[in-house]
Amino acid sequence: MKKSNITNYKKTLSKFTTGITVVCFRKNKKIYGKTINSFNALSLKPQLVLFSLGNYSSNFENFFNNNFLSINILSKNQKNISNNFSMKSPKTNIVKFFETDNHIPLIDGCIANLECKIEDKIKKGDHTIFICKVISVQFNNKLEPLNYFNSKYL
Ligand SMILES: Cc1cc2nc3c(=O)[nH]c(=O)nc-3n(C[C@H](O)[C@H](O)[C@H](O)COP(=O)(O)O)c2cc1C
Repeated sequence: MKKSNITNYKKTLSKFTTGITVVCFRKNKKIYGKTINSFNALSLKPQLVLFSLGNYSSNFENFFNNNFLSINILSKNQKNISNNFSMKSPKTNIVKFFETDNHIPLIDGCIANLECKIEDKIKKGDHTIFICKVISVQFNNKLEPLNYFNSKYL
């Protein structure tokens, strides 16, 4: 075993295969989105999920002060959407959105979508954990997931 440092920590965690989500919300008619793979299930009763967002990421304050959001689990043919929402100024006009009754924007063509209410935020280290109550869900049994391993798409 080697003492953990930033380089071997990042390399080690890259060996954990994840799916990829884009977390979206709307503020003053503008849609915000961020590519996130720190998404995880937290609780069954009640249904809670979590993800973490870097404290210095762009639009962090908008995320932090927001109440509702969508978590969109990307399908294999949505690599461009993952790349788009990992950029500083993502384009929202190249993405097809649909809306819930609460006017939360969700991404079309995903393997699954969750509509969530932010319940709690915990600042820890250089990230903040967002704990979200799941309000509504949908999934597609036919699509394949977009996965991430070793800092590359699978
Ligand atoms: C596959 C993938 C997964 C990512 N997961 C996260 C994550 O869980 N949390 C996070 O804060 N940033 C994550 N990022 C980085 C953000 O999407 C974004 O690139 C980063 O915040 C820098 O852009 P910004 O300064 O505009 O926020 C991920 C990026 C990629 C490509």
